[in-house]
Amino acid sequence: MSTETATPVTPAPVWDVINGFTSYWALSAALDLGLFDALAQDDDSGTGLDASQLAAAIGAAGPGPVSVLAETLVALDLLAAVEDRFRLTPAAERYLVSTAPASMAALVRYSPGPPGAWPGLADTVRTGAPEPTVTAALTELYPALVRATGPTQAGVATAVAAELQRRGWWPEQPTIVDLGCGSGAWLTALLRTRPKGTVIAVDLPNVLPIAEQAATDAGLREQVIAVAGDYLGVELPVAEADVVVLAHVLRAEPAERARQLLARAVELAGAGGVVVVVDYTRPDPARARHDGDGEDRGAACIAARHELLLSLTMLASTAGLGVTVADLRAWAEAAGAELVDSFEPVPRQHVRLIRSRTPEATS
Ligand SMILES: C[S@@+](CC[C@H](N)C(=O)[O-])C[C@H]1O[C@@H](n2cnc3c(N)ncnc32)[C@H](O)[C@@H]1O
Repeated sequence: MSTETATPVTPAPVWDVINGFTSYWALSAALDLGLFDALAQDDDSGTGLDASQLAAAIGAAGPGPVSVLAETLVALDLLAAVEDRFRLTPAAERYLVSTAPASMAALVRYSPGPPGAWPGLADTVRTGAPEPTVTAALTELYPALVRATGPTQAGVATAVAAELQRRGWWPEQPTIVDLGCGSGAWLTALLRTRPKGTVIAVDLPNVLPIAEQAATDAGLREQVIAVAGDYLGVELPVAEADVVVLAHVLRAEPAERARQLLARAVELAGAGGVVVVVDYTRPDPARARHDGDGEDRGAACIAARHELLLSLTMLASTAGLGVTVADLRAWAEAAGAELVDSFEPVPRQHVRLIRSRTPEATS
């Protein structure tokens, strides 16, 4: 019911969502056209390119369509406009130029998962799981997806090695188990700090060769034992490890499989090892239910917008519901371990350290 003095309710949140779709495709088109790379090549002069020059550089029909696209990117804070010229913003220079070390250019394409997952999201919510064809499409997409996330994960892994060293949890010749090793970014970064260590690298058969190649390229192939199969059930050549890595895998699994996977990792870490979990955790609904001491659920959701959208991305293409910190605590506890610490070495990359509750771990 509205009154004369009530603030008008604006449709802005709805437009923001509609425009989110359009913005995504504006950025995708710019990447497909090599627009950011073309502007990066003009860096020498530093003055940028006008619409005609930009059109010529990217093979566009003329300045008209390029202006609409480039001005939209300016509005999205992904380009700067100075007089009649377009230039890269610092964020575009760092994250959207394909050759930049921290480039997210490929991630823009692959991060949303298989495109076919999204039109079926309502059905996935109805039934609890996407169509098998969607899950199969994700498996096919994994090689490209893990390659795209490799640079970020290498940075996280390097920071984790430094943290383990600081804590005295990083032996000279560690045995490491990397469950869902993806691009091999983790294992190469970890082995670079411990070239005499050994990594048991586990992944699906269509992805594992990427990690093996990364190890070969880094001159570390002899240190890696590659195991193809389901990380939950596949037989491993070791019973214990100093470090077990679960990076960006738990949220893609249904809760029971995620619990079992963490239990497997805890068992492998034994009394003296550490399980390293990296994931985008969504807010814990149970915490918000307790009046008084719980966080406000709305505020928690707004603060975790990024993590929630990534959890939804998983739901759209797997039966995974994402993971909460409370899940991690409960699963760790059920396996005889505890969440001992967490830190964020790279923005939005939350690392959780889980260790056994036995005396050896706490001494
Ligand atoms: C989001 S990627 C994370 C890769 C890597 N841990 C990282 O952080 O860069 C998830 C990885 O888990 C792998 N994976 C998914 N299901 C798996 C399964 N059942 N068994 C083994 N690996 C699996 C995928 O192939 C993919 O490499």
